[in-house]
Amino acid sequence: PRKIIIDTDPGQDDAVAILLALASPEEIEVLGITAVAGNVPLALTQKNARIVCELAGKPETRVFAGCAEPLSRKLVTAEHVHGKTGLDGPELHDPTMPLQDQHAVDFIIETLRSEPEGTVTLCPLGPLTNIATALQKAPDIAPRIQEIVLMGGAYFEVGNITPSAEFNIYVDPQAAEIVFKSGIPLFVMPLDVTHKALVTTPRNDAFRAIGTPVGIAVAEMTDFFERFDKEKYGSEGAPLHDPCVTAYLIRPELFSGRHINVEIETQSELTLGMTVADWWGVSGRKPNATFVGDLDADGFFDLLTERLSRL
Ligand code: BDR
Ligand code: CA
Repeated sequence: PRKIIIDTDPGQDDAVAILLALASPEEIEVLGITAVAGNVPLALTQKNARIVCELAGKPETRVFAGCAEPLSRKLVTAEHVHGKTGLDGPELHDPTMPLQDQHAVDFIIETLRSEPEGTVTLCPLGPLTNIATALQKAPDIAPRIQEIVLMGGAYFEVGNITPSAEFNIYVDPQAAEIVFKSGIPLFVMPLDVTHKALVTTPRNDAFRAIGTPVGIAVAEMTDFFERFDKEKYGSEGAPLHDPCVTAYLIRPELFSGRHINVEIETQSELTLGMTVADWWGVSGRKPNATFVGDLDADGFFDLLTERLSRL
């Protein structure tokens, strides 16, 4: 299996991404889950990560708390999408599994130094604060990272938190810039692909029909999350952004994209956090990321439903 660290700000879609990974031990070994502030403050994201591990029946998973604030800006949260707890929808209980004492950034550094070079993949599902902090504190880890597979950014679909920026990049553009300039192989799931992973009513029914606590909780989470997108955008259902990352690790053939240059806007007030993605190769700048543009949505939901039913 591929060894990964999931860096996350749960978030209903983060929760589904984590469940998918924990349900797939043949393909994915989760070395640890590192929480970051994003959709809701850190005190809630680290707690939500533990709730999700317990829901999956994997309380032995190690969860670490990381950065509570972006590198240089004030934290922007998204309760308007995810609810007050970040995991609104199902009835969930406080976790009993422990939070690890070590800081998430130190866990990331220590793991990359101790595992064989090129064998650990980082999977950021939220703002890139923990990852950028680790790279700043320990530049020696960069060449040791196999790949960073992340959810963030947008090109044709432009923004969801401002007209030009996607939430994860917008919350910490300085951190995103560090990651996109790092030279580490990047595989990016922007809104262009995640807006094709829509939880339609039949797909939501399929989660519920699993009939287990996991299946029902996922249906209730995507129901809550869906309310926002359906009302606001008139789309067929909520986009399952973050699970695209973990699905890619299991079934890469479901996704297709282009290796292009992507730069992060860190200065402009109007377009702060924009991912300036050179899809047509007009800049002459060196490609630094594979930007995914398409997925096989039915294949993605078949995989998700089948895996969730294993938990
Ligand atoms: C991203 O922002 C968060 O609200 C979601 O969890 C996802 O990671 C989508 O823009
Ligand atoms: Ca997220």
